[in-house]
Amino acid sequence: MGYDPYCSVEIEFSDMEGLHNLITGCSHAQKTLVVCDRFTTDIWGITEEIENGVEEGILAWVDRCPGNPTQKDIFDALNKVGDLNPTQILAIGGGSTIDLAKAVSAFYYMFKGQEITIPIITEALKNKTYTTPHQFIDIIALPSAAGTGSEVTRFATIWDVDKKAKFSIDCQENYAKKAIVIPDLTLSLPLRLTLSTGLDALSHAMESFWAKPTTYVVKDIALRAIDLIMTYLPQVLKDPKNLELRTAMSRGALLAGMAFAKTRTTACHSISYPITMQYGVEHGLACALSLDAVSKINRDKTVLADDLFDVLEKHGGLKNWLDSTSEGIVDIRLSALGVPREGIDLIVEGTFTKGRMDNNPVDISPEQVKEILISVY
Ligand SMILES: [Fe+2]
Repeated sequence: MGYDPYCSVEIEFSDMEGLHNLITGCSHAQKTLVVCDRFTTDIWGITEEIENGVEEGILAWVDRCPGNPTQKDIFDALNKVGDLNPTQILAIGGGSTIDLAKAVSAFYYMFKGQEITIPIITEALKNKTYTTPHQFIDIIALPSAAGTGSEVTRFATIWDVDKKAKFSIDCQENYAKKAIVIPDLTLSLPLRLTLSTGLDALSHAMESFWAKPTTYVVKDIALRAIDLIMTYLPQVLKDPKNLELRTAMSRGALLAGMAFAKTRTTACHSISYPITMQYGVEHGLACALSLDAVSKINRDKTVLADDLFDVLEKHGGLKNWLDSTSEGIVDIRLSALGVPREGIDLIVEGTFTKGRMDNNPVDISPEQVKEILISVY
């Protein structure tokens, strides 16, 4: 019999001093690879520290971590690591950075000694050959946004270079060994990114509440996450440099991550993928577009639905809350997000991601998806 512990990731909260100590404390014996975008290290004032570290104790630094990583980004990162044989990755950044680190962890030793190309990486993603037993690199994940929860999930999202598909690396070995949450890192997030990542976290929590494999434990964690996010996201957006408020959002996003780590996401994420892939709409905004409609469709098939709707009502109802929270930052409507009216059919076509749409408690038809999209146009 196999066992699946609720959460295998060691989790701690820390601060900037903890981050400095972590970086300067790396020794050659640990063979640490840093995965962190140089743009953000400049903002956090740790560029020099990492550069010095590369000379003294850090093995190498993958310093280019674009949003929504593709096979090309994995290819570049693997080439940068070369034949250095890292044993640990410090992944500091948003979900995209942590997901790129997970891809390096999954593929580095698998491809070692082989010529790699982008088509080879694509095939490995499609055929999930990373699930064959092989060495993964330990990951220490430091999230810099209160959003994806990637630090406590086994999933990494990789976006197709050719915009034809979205891949998910998904296996037990892909969990970080440790998540160090440093809310200070979120202080510099611009308002729109704070909003979109916060809404991603809200979607994770809500979708885990009604996902087919949900449990009472997941629901209790999700309810707390939803309450934290709906309480603090509007406050953070008004006072973005407030560390206490940012910490509350980090707590909410972490719990949301722990909730959907057990269930995966559902219709809202599935509908979001083509919106992001085809039109570049931020992931959290793309998820939030259908959250209200899907919650209503799912209500009758959701155990303890009243508990969920009580929390939503406490905050004025989801639709009102979304409108007031995003006011002055972005209008969460397809038209305002740059999606042409004739693009709706293309979105509907790309909406049915296996393992996400069929994870929704209610079957949603293409016609219903179209109706939802028209309602938020
Ligand atoms: Fe997400």
